[in-house]
Amino acid sequence: MNEHDSTELEARLPDQEYYRPPPEFVGQANVTDHAVYDRFEEFPDGFNEYAELLTWDDRWDEVFDGSDPPFFEWFVGGSLNASVNCVDRHLAERKNQAALIWEGESGEQRTITYQDLFRQVNEMAAVLKEVGVEEGDVVTLHLPMVPALPITMLACARIGAVHSVVFAGFSANALADRLGDADSDVLVSIDGYYRRGEWLDHKAKADDAIDAEETSVETALLWSRHDELHGDVELTGEDPYVLVDDVLAEKRGARVEPVSRDAEDPLFLMYTSGTTGKPKGCQHRTGGYLAYAAGTAKYVLDVKPTDTYWCGADIGWITGHSYIVYGPLALGSTTVMYEGTPDYPDRSRLWEIAERYDVDIFHTSPTAIRQFMKWGEEHLAGHDFDFRHLTTVGEPIQPEAWQWYYDHVGEEDAVIVDTWWQTETGGHLITNLPALDDMKPGSAGRPCPGIEPALYEDDGTRIEPASGRAGNLVIERPWPGMLQTVYGDDDRFIDEYWRRFSETDSDDWRDWVYKTGDGAVHGQDGYYRVLGRLDDVMNVSGHRLGTMELESAVAEVEAIAEAAVVAREDTERGHVPDVYVVLRDGVEASEAVRQQVIASVEDEIGAFARPDRVLFVSDLPKTRSGKIMRRVLENISNSEDLGDTTTLRDPSVPDQIRQQVQTDGGESPRS
Ligand code: WTA
Repeated sequence: MNEHDSTELEARLPDQEYYRPPPEFVGQANVTDHAVYDRFEEFPDGFNEYAELLTWDDRWDEVFDGSDPPFFEWFVGGSLNASVNCVDRHLAERKNQAALIWEGESGEQRTITYQDLFRQVNEMAAVLKEVGVEEGDVVTLHLPMVPALPITMLACARIGAVHSVVFAGFSANALADRLGDADSDVLVSIDGYYRRGEWLDHKAKADDAIDAEETSVETALLWSRHDELHGDVELTGEDPYVLVDDVLAEKRGARVEPVSRDAEDPLFLMYTSGTTGKPKGCQHRTGGYLAYAAGTAKYVLDVKPTDTYWCGADIGWITGHSYIVYGPLALGSTTVMYEGTPDYPDRSRLWEIAERYDVDIFHTSPTAIRQFMKWGEEHLAGHDFDFRHLTTVGEPIQPEAWQWYYDHVGEEDAVIVDTWWQTETGGHLITNLPALDDMKPGSAGRPCPGIEPALYEDDGTRIEPASGRAGNLVIERPWPGMLQTVYGDDDRFIDEYWRRFSETDSDDWRDWVYKTGDGAVHGQDGYYRVLGRLDDVMNVSGHRLGTMELESAVAEVEAIAEAAVVAREDTERGHVPDVYVVLRDGVEASEAVRQQVIASVEDEIGAFARPDRVLFVSDLPKTRSGKIMRRVLENISNSEDLGDTTTLRDPSVPDQIRQQVQTDGGESPRS
């Protein structure tokens, strides 16, 4: 669906039953009283409750400053250090407790206690200082799921440097874009890592990103996946590489004084796809973000210091930042990290890990659940795991997948918590607090304490609450976890999130309404059911991709005159991109061109974004003013009615496309 076309949303799902949280869960939960909602209704003071979970160097003078909307400030005048909150302050009580449990794909197991983490974060902070990183610098991390990643993040936080973690699956070009946009001259990478038993040369991506025109990397810190660099890697001495292990060897036992950061100083950037070709750097603040991540990890995920908590996301995305690293560590619990894929060496890997560490809380995505479902419950059989709390995030979960998760992973005695939020929001915004309300498959549930969502019509009128009608999901009141701005581009921040539903000439923060880009329904029971994106952003296997980003990757191919990308629904992966291309005159449609398109997407974005259908068509559906009507293509891809085509310049185009698609399915044989 394209927000500029008419948004016809429908709530097609039949009404679902409710499930009670098990009494044993309720009896032990962190939040057991609905009064929490009343406390947070005191805006903004309710949010003090989250900030008070942290250790501050200076307490804040003012909870919220809304005087310059939409540039809100939280816990104004307060100062703190995030690494102290996630590490140092736990030493007195639990220095020998595991902070991180890491399992490598090839089976290595490493337990890092809070004391170990303290030592390693300090030593890495000393390494960063040694190579000249200073407070406020942006350090780009391109690291897979190895302990070096959270250690480097926390080391940055310790010295007040702003980390920008780029998901390891991103290509060299995508990394270069993000380095360039953030003007980041320090890159942290690694020689390689394992995926399905194969060694991936990761440094090759760093090499190409460093050579790219848009980057000016002065120092590239290179970790080694094993105790020494992988045999294939050789350094010439002429490049900007510094081996982390070499500098670490000189920094054994180093202690680095944590920098006291203003609550409003940025903690990190997280690039995410939007509605233009260029990803945007969501900038998150130190105090408000950490308070919100810790608060929601405690109230929603029910994390306790005694828990072993495992989130299967990658730290390269926001879920991993908030709910593998910052939230659980701020609360002093044990967080599990796994390097590899769930089907290596076989499809019971995850359940073996859950059993081995006796994981209490497990967090995954609907895409993963659909995959487990397809693989079959026999892979869970015989594994002695016992979860009390299961989370899902990233896409709407179909009731069948919910039910499977509940029956087979939760064994009917765990709560299922469907959490709706975004990179921009820093933490959960809509989800039930697990002990307070009944679960309803397919619905995220109530707004989190202090959060005020609403649904608006396209024209900006507010839809009556609990009407059961679908609309644009907005948030009417600020919260501490929200992004500060788009890095280096305040105008884009306003354009993307505020302009559509706010009175942008008002100085009163109450007139500023945050646009989420999602559509949702608010039921009579007060539960929100999120329907998905209304703008040109899609979620592919839990990865957020922009239509425009994909289209510009496709347009790089010489043979292509024009391209449009739309989301096709896929029973397993949620959505997959369908690429429609018009070839230049004189170029013939061929498997070779199709492969070039796929290769270009892999180069520009990463292999995880690989489209499986490239459809050759002779024209694209366009309005009289020449705008591509992606909605028509989306209907074709999803075998739906074409909808209103009267505004098309050439109304015969959709039928031609439909025929072309039927003749040539667009798929190439998978290698
Ligand atoms: C979608 C991930 C339905 C939504 C934390 C949102 C969801 C986008 C849910 C953000 C959910 C996330 N139910 N849809 N529980 N959670 N989404 O930035 O479309 O990677 O706008 O953040 O994922 O994706 P992002």
